[in-house]
Amino acid sequence: MRAMKNIVILISGRGSNMEAIVRTARAEQWPANIVAVISNRANAAGLNYAQQQGIATAVVENTAYPTRESFDTALQATIDQFAPDIVILAGFMRILTAPFVAHYAGRLLNIHPSLLPSFTGLSTHRRALEAGVKIHGSTVHFVTADLDHGPIIAQAAVPVLEEDDEATLAARVLAQEHIIYPRAVRWLVEDNLSIDQGRVTVKTVKKTQKLQAEIT
Ligand code: GRF
Repeated sequence: MRAMKNIVILISGRGSNMEAIVRTARAEQWPANIVAVISNRANAAGLNYAQQQGIATAVVENTAYPTRESFDTALQATIDQFAPDIVILAGFMRILTAPFVAHYAGRLLNIHPSLLPSFTGLSTHRRALEAGVKIHGSTVHFVTADLDHGPIIAQAAVPVLEEDDEATLAARVLAQEHIIYPRAVRWLVEDNLSIDQGRVTVKTVKKTQKLQAEIT
């Protein structure tokens, strides 16, 4: 029998992606426990949901620390109390230092609301509208020290409509995030991902494609 994996999820606000991961993990009975939800903001709405679900929560407020390094050290100590195999950034609005990222190499995921490598950084939906792109979306990726540039695991594209504003476009993207993020986390839980030269392969998908190629 496969060992259960411990998952820690970091949030800063609403936490709808965290919620999607918790729900899907339970519904699909992943071999994983979501052991803690940690926020850098005490008023993050997502903390309430986690508590209602009986998940441990913790707050490490970045404003209480004088430097990025000291905050990351404290955050890492709090995370590691829960002995995580996997750490998930779900709307966690902090840039992380290189030592922090290295500590969780290969087991730290993020979701970014654009089709990377387009629109790294903030205000992605507004910038997508301003650029006039016809397709927008979201990306799940491994986190590396290079902000929003880690190996890509999954992407979802949505159309940009003539009448869209930031809110309608964000909502369309978010609905897809709630599908692709749990899927990507599940792949990591099941040791189903490999990285080669910055490119991610989903092992079972590759196997299926190979079988299909053999048939056709
Ligand atoms: C999502 O759009 C995610 O891509 C971005 O921040 C937002 C978080 O939303 N990183 P939520 O807190 O998961 O509801």
